[in-house]
Amino acid sequence: MEKKIKVGIIFGGRSAEHEVSLRSAKNIIEAIDKDAYDPVLIGIDKTGVWFLHDRAEFLFNTADRRIALIPQSEGKIAPDISIDVAFPILHGTFGEDGTIQGLLKLADIPYVGAGVLGSAVGMDKDVMKRLLRDAGIPIAKFMAVKEDDAPQYEEVAEKLSTPFFVKPANLGSSVGVHKVTNKEEFIKATQDAWRYDRKIIIEEYIKGREIECAVLGNDEPRVSVPGEIVPHHDFYSYEAKYTDAHGATCAIPAKLSDELVKKVQALAVETFKVLLCEGLGRVDFFLKENGDVLVNEINTMPGFTSVSMYPKLWEASGISYTELIDRLIRLAFERFEKEKKLKTSYVAE
Ligand SMILES: Nc1ncnc2c1ncn2[C@@H]1O[C@H](COP(=O)(O)OP(=O)(O)O)[C@@H](O)[C@H]1O
Ligand SMILES: [Mg+2]
Repeated sequence: MEKKIKVGIIFGGRSAEHEVSLRSAKNIIEAIDKDAYDPVLIGIDKTGVWFLHDRAEFLFNTADRRIALIPQSEGKIAPDISIDVAFPILHGTFGEDGTIQGLLKLADIPYVGAGVLGSAVGMDKDVMKRLLRDAGIPIAKFMAVKEDDAPQYEEVAEKLSTPFFVKPANLGSSVGVHKVTNKEEFIKATQDAWRYDRKIIIEEYIKGREIECAVLGNDEPRVSVPGEIVPHHDFYSYEAKYTDAHGATCAIPAKLSDELVKKVQALAVETFKVLLCEGLGRVDFFLKENGDVLVNEINTMPGFTSVSMYPKLWEASGISYTELIDRLIRLAFERFEKEKKLKTSYVAE
C-alpha cells in the first residue's frame, strides 16, 4: 500500500473568525479521503499557541501537546511528528493574510491556497480594490481611511451619498461591517470598525443581488456555477451568516440568464488572476437591477462549514467535497514543485 500523505489541518487562530475556522476544519476532517490522507490536527488557540489535537477529541478543547513548526526539518512540527502538506483552514488575520503562508514557505512545506502576496492582497480590502480598479474590473466607489485623517460624516455623505457601508479593511465574516444612514450611525460604525483595524473602508451602497462564484486551480483556474445569497437581514451580517439559522438562504445555481452566468464567471477568473490567487478563491459580486456586475471581494480561504458556499458551489458543478479537498492538496504540491525548480542563487546563463 502506498504511504498516506500527512496533511496538517491548521485551524482556529488569532482572528475574529476563530470559531468559523473550527467549523470549517471539522468538515474538512470529516470529508477528507482517509485512504489517501492522514490528517494531522493542528489547532491554534486565540493567543496564538499551537497544539496537536487528537482527532476523536477535536473541538472538545483537550489539546494536550504544544507544538511548533521546526524550520529546515522536512515538515516537522514536533521531534517525532511531521507533515507533508498543510491545509491552513484559517480565516482572517494571521491565517488568510499571508502570515502563516510565509511561515509555511520558510519551513519548506507545500500548502493549500494563495501564496504570501495573494493572501495579503486578498485580505486588505483597500489594496484589493485598488488592484481591481487598476485592472478595469468594476467595483463600488470607496475610500480607505486611517484613524488620524478620518473624514466627517457630512464629507462622506456628500461623496458617496447615503446609505453607505463602513468596514474594517482587514477582516471578514462581516465582523465590524455596518450600513450607515445618518451621523449617529456613522459614529457608532466607525468606532466599532476601529476596534478591529487601523484602516477602514467606506463604500457606496450597492443595491443588488449577491452572487458568488468559486474558483479552483493555479495557472488555469476553473470556475463553478454561480450561486446567490439572499440575506433575510438588512444585509449579509455576521448574524445572518452564522448565528441565525434562518439568516440567509442560498440558491445554487443562481437564477441568471446564460449571458449573465458567462459574464460573472469570466469576471471571477479575471479577478482571481489579477489578485494573484492560487489554489482556491471565492469571488463575490453585486448584481444591479440594470444588469451591471460589480466585484465586491475575493476570499482566498473561504469558509468550509456545512453552510458554506465554496464547497456547495463545487458540489453543484460536479466536484464532491472529498474530491475538492483532494484537488486542493494536489494543487498545493503542483505549486510547490514549480517553485522548487526556481534557482535561489545567481547562475550564469
Ligand atoms: N457596498 C456595499 N453595498 C451593499 N451591501 C454591502 C456593501 N458592502 C458590504 N455589503 C454587505 O455586507 C456584507 C459583508 O461585506 P463584505 O464586504 O463582503 O465583507 P466581509 O469580508 O466581512 O464578508 C456583504 O455580503 C453585503 O451583504
Ligand atoms: Mg463578504
